[in-house]
Amino acid sequence: MPYELLLTDSTLIKDIKLELESEKKFVKPIYQDGRYKVIRTTITEDDHPLLAKQKSYLLRKYTAGRLCDKNDENNIVGFTRSFLKARNVANFEELISHLPIRYTVYTPLLLFNNSKEKSFNHIKWREFFQLVGLPVKDEYCKQMLSKVFVKLKLTHVAINMPIIEADVMRRPFNIYPLYGELVSPALDVRAEELWDSPTETDFQSTLWCHTIQNGIHQYWAPMFTMFSRGNIKEKKRILDKFQDIEGNDVVDMYAGIGYFTLCYLKRNARKVYCFEINPWSVEALRKGLDANAIDPQRCKIYNESNENCTARIREAVTRKMRIRHINLGLLPTSKPSWPLALEVIRLQYSTSSMNIVSLHIHENVHIIHLQDDSFITKTLNALKAIDKDMCYEAKHLERIKTFAPDIWHICLDVDVKCLELSSLVPLT
Ligand SMILES: C[S@@+](CC[C@H](N)C(=O)[O-])C[C@H]1O[C@@H](n2cnc3c(N)ncnc32)[C@H](O)[C@@H]1O
Repeated sequence: MPYELLLTDSTLIKDIKLELESEKKFVKPIYQDGRYKVIRTTITEDDHPLLAKQKSYLLRKYTAGRLCDKNDENNIVGFTRSFLKARNVANFEELISHLPIRYTVYTPLLLFNNSKEKSFNHIKWREFFQLVGLPVKDEYCKQMLSKVFVKLKLTHVAINMPIIEADVMRRPFNIYPLYGELVSPALDVRAEELWDSPTETDFQSTLWCHTIQNGIHQYWAPMFTMFSRGNIKEKKRILDKFQDIEGNDVVDMYAGIGYFTLCYLKRNARKVYCFEINPWSVEALRKGLDANAIDPQRCKIYNESNENCTARIREAVTRKMRIRHINLGLLPTSKPSWPLALEVIRLQYSTSSMNIVSLHIHENVHIIHLQDDSFITKTLNALKAIDKDMCYEAKHLERIKTFAPDIWHICLDVDVKCLELSSLVPLT
């Protein structure tokens, strides 16, 4: 049976459709199913590169002309129904009504979404698992992986929970394992040293997930770092649209597991300077470099705060600086690092002929401030207030994804130029 793709972010439809059409795998028409836009394909292979490339959608098999039969053992609902019936579970329809059907595959992990009504964390499912005990719960997950996700080589099941906003490292404290160990029981996940200064043994004692987006391999440890599928659109923009990456340098503040760093390197940046405070993300970035066969010499990673960037870049740059892009990727705002980015630009102007640097400012912005352009005006004024000797031009505002109702995660591209070289007081 071929696959269809279920999307909640309709801004992705155009690109996905174009890609499928170019491979003659698109089936008309795109239709609505509940909250999903559904795109049908003629792809039947589980490991087809087009499906492996992006995970910004759910996958479902369909038979020509109609949706998959709900009782079909090949889908989660059908499988669960027959599993529960075979065990004479009295309230199985009630459990089915709270069954989560939204999930993401991050090999080897199957990660279920968590909603109030549909979740394995729903009281009805928690009571059921408690009643039947661990062996049945394990058997249920094991069979689901082997029957519904044939060939995907999945070994773990967990529930995704929201990231805690207040945690600056965006750590997934609330990921909830259902089947398989995400970390070895020997690790004390509450110990501060494990988060602040993990050892090689710690790195080997946890599960690492892998996904390929836009042809780029990415790794992360779901217990220790977040991963955001929604950034796929921005990654593609770096790969397709950004000017002058090739042969130039990039600074990636808040580098994380390298969502953006790896794209800049794929686009042949000469060197990317990364600043990231979470050692688990740094390890993930190293794995990403290795998996993409990128020379680690081209990526200088500082497991430190952005605050050190001017000093670090000054001591690292032995050849002429050619910083052309500075990425500022923290939500809800990257504002604390704007002065640091401008300091780096100032440092560069005093030693190099590169006369234009693009800032890529990520921020969560209310739709009202996008519609009346006040976000752009405010940002340009704020930059001017930080360093009046530069001129700032907003080149593009990309709406990446909705973060909450009426709140957009955006990226504003601002070109920074020096007004007059002689007017700049060199940094000491
Ligand atoms: C939204 S995530 C980054 C997304 C990223 N581009 C990626 O690939 O994961 C923000 C990252 O910024 C890091 N961070 C937060 N404050 C920082 C700071 N002052 N200096 C450096 N990194 C910081 C966090 O640890 C987190 O990994």
